[in-house]
Amino acid sequence: MQTPLLSIKNLRTYFHLDEGVLKAVDGVDLEMQTGQTLGIIGESGSGKSVMARSVMRLIAPPGRVEAGSQILLNTNDGEPVDIAQLPYDGDALRQIRGKSISMIFQEPMTSLSPVHRVGDQILEAVLLHVTRDKTEARAITLDAIQRVGIPNPERAFLSYPHELSGGLRQRIMIAMALACRPQLLIADEPTTALDVTVQWQILRLMDALRNDLGMAILYITHDLGVVAQIADTVAVMYLGQIVETADVFTIFERPLHPYTQSLLKSIPKVGAQSRQRLEAIGGTVPVPINLPVRCRFADRCQFVKPECSIAAPALRLVDNGHAVRCFLHHQEVEHGR
Ligand SMILES: Nc1ncnc2c1ncn2[C@@H]1O[C@H](COP(=O)(O)OP(=O)(O)OP(=O)(O)O)[C@@H](O)[C@H]1O
Ligand SMILES: [Mg+2]
Repeated sequence: MQTPLLSIKNLRTYFHLDEGVLKAVDGVDLEMQTGQTLGIIGESGSGKSVMARSVMRLIAPPGRVEAGSQILLNTNDGEPVDIAQLPYDGDALRQIRGKSISMIFQEPMTSLSPVHRVGDQILEAVLLHVTRDKTEARAITLDAIQRVGIPNPERAFLSYPHELSGGLRQRIMIAMALACRPQLLIADEPTTALDVTVQWQILRLMDALRNDLGMAILYITHDLGVVAQIADTVAVMYLGQIVETADVFTIFERPLHPYTQSLLKSIPKVGAQSRQRLEAIGGTVPVPINLPVRCRFADRCQFVKPECSIAAPALRLVDNGHAVRCFLHHQEVEHGR
């Protein structure tokens, strides 16, 4: 077996609030290989962003990555590091952010400085992480801008963010994330704010760059069409936990968890009448404070059984690479959480 690029074990990220402990991520295990695209899906509030930010340790008090969590990254240069154990403000973490792992956020305006030219912003990251040679750094920056399909890289280099369209700004964000040749790119709903055509262009672009640069992509979205397009493997999150994971074909062809099945039913079908309502999942995602020990989806599940209210199911492999957290498919109880 290949050593995984990223190996997450029992990741727990809790927010310590006056009302109680909000368990945004509560025992996530997952592995990623070099070159793999893992899609994370789940409704709003399921913990996707907190999980992604935890991998970068971008969680501020009252949130924290709890003791016992492991985020093992096999960097190109040196020993594997457990990101969960690194000092919060140290050099080691700064080296990992931007160099080994880059993240693209949903809204590009919030991550670009409005008062600096976009080229200089990318250049700064390259000077920090790749080379101190200014001429070389400029060449790498222009190459990154060109790779993301921007027609006139020199002109884009000199632009300010507000002078660019939403699609171009998002491309600049991707260029910035890629200029440092990360081993892992985390994309948190990077195309939701864009129109559909630009969205598909960017997905194709990210896929091409993954092949060229040999990186892995952790792609977060609540759009199953996007997942079908880009992911090799899919993990479905509900209330801070992974409830099902499998390769992308299996998730679409043979989803086992009732939650995954409901998510799939909520995709509008091609040819459906435009007025037809989406089949929504009954109920809403609760806030994960003081959750009882039981299946977290039991209240909303149409196949609920008595045991679902007494114990919490473990995430267990039921087939090659296909794991599910549901008593309809196995009887393994989760202990110690
Ligand atoms: N800074 C914070 N302080 C307190 N609670 C937070 C904070 N950030 C997130 N949460 C809570 O953590 C849970 C998971 O939130 P998260 O943002 O990860 O969801 P998500 O799956 O990314 O949703 P969306 O699809 O809307 O982006 C939610 O209950 C949310 O309210
Ligand atoms: Mg989010």
